[in-house]
Amino acid sequence: MTEKPALTHRLQGFGASIFGEMTALAVATGAINLGQGFPNYDGPPEVLSAAQKQIAQGNNQYPPGIGVPDLRLAVSEHQSRFWGLTYDPDSEILITVGASEAIAGALLGILNAGDEVIVFEPLFDTYAGLIALADGLAIPVTLRSNYGERFQFDPDELRKAVTPRTRAILLNSPHNPTGTVFTRDELQTIADVVIAHDLIVISDEVYEHLTFDHAQHIPIATIGDMRDRTITISSGGKTFNTTGWKIGWACGPRHLVHATQMAKQLFTFAGGTPFQAAIATGLRLPDSYFVTLAQDLQTKRDVLLTALTEADLNPVTPQGTYFITTDIRQRFPGGDGLDFCRQLPDLCGIVAIPASVLYTPENQHEGEHYVRFAFCKQMETLEEAAHRLRDWS
Ligand SMILES: Cc1ncc(COP(=O)(O)O)c(C=O)c1O
Repeated sequence: MTEKPALTHRLQGFGASIFGEMTALAVATGAINLGQGFPNYDGPPEVLSAAQKQIAQGNNQYPPGIGVPDLRLAVSEHQSRFWGLTYDPDSEILITVGASEAIAGALLGILNAGDEVIVFEPLFDTYAGLIALADGLAIPVTLRSNYGERFQFDPDELRKAVTPRTRAILLNSPHNPTGTVFTRDELQTIADVVIAHDLIVISDEVYEHLTFDHAQHIPIATIGDMRDRTITISSGGKTFNTTGWKIGWACGPRHLVHATQMAKQLFTFAGGTPFQAAIATGLRLPDSYFVTLAQDLQTKRDVLLTALTEADLNPVTPQGTYFITTDIRQRFPGGDGLDFCRQLPDLCGIVAIPASVLYTPENQHEGEHYVRFAFCKQMETLEEAAHRLRDWS
């Protein structure tokens, strides 16, 4: 009997995740893993002990499909406290299994076959696959860096990307992997396009609290009337160093949240009851927690940034997130990021991620020479990485 190919045609052409290959390489070689973006330190003790208490108290069964009421309330308070946005916790907030499930729910709940979604690339690795699963089409607008300057888009390219089939713009700010924090002007440009063509925005803001220097995160929902056209997504993973808990949320007008929920309930229904309650504790921490989180991360950024600069890897200074994108062409003959990343453990005992995999297949050449390093690591880990980069220089 001949075996029929099992993989749906929608996912043909999407390879295995590069994160698996690079993490295996780190384990096999003992290299420092600056590839995958997860902290190797814990979240705030109040949040950790809140989860332990919830488990000990027996709060371990299914939560309501839309999420634990106290977390929905805490998300609503958080949106109002930090961004001045008001959401009804009972109809405009949905708790999800990480931001990932909120993004999946929004795309699969809203798109019809053939709908186009404009994405800024390089793009987070699940976006293109999810759009394909929804039988949609990802239309890339490339963020480019001129001679080491901040990555940004060309407004004309954005305007030209719109067609009669465009349904949504999928935005991510602060942006992984470039570290760009979209400015008010850039967001206004996007909002103008959205309103002119009656589109919606799916806004992935998981790094909302991780901004540096004078960069300020601005949710696109705060621009003009965009609240009514935007589904804003975030999660507790990055803000409370609890990426394994996978507690996320989506906020938006009732019809967009409802559409997201209709798809989301088919994936997991709901999950993480004791962790939902603990993230509510985190969202209510005092301002000092959020300020210190960003300051500490900025110090870590600077350690790695200096080492990458000294190693002639031409890093672009990130304004947010916990990633640095470098241009390897000066240091690595041929400038192929994938080759570079496969050799880096032997060259200097570090693992990183080639950014080319974060571009749509037809545009991989745009990112061939970029490599992403994560700095959400303990200071000793980063100092050891800096030491290895210096020895290699
Ligand atoms: C831009 C972006 N969106 C979403 C996610 C996933 O978030 P979560 O772990 O809450 O599902 C990540 C995680 O790396 C990310 O970088």
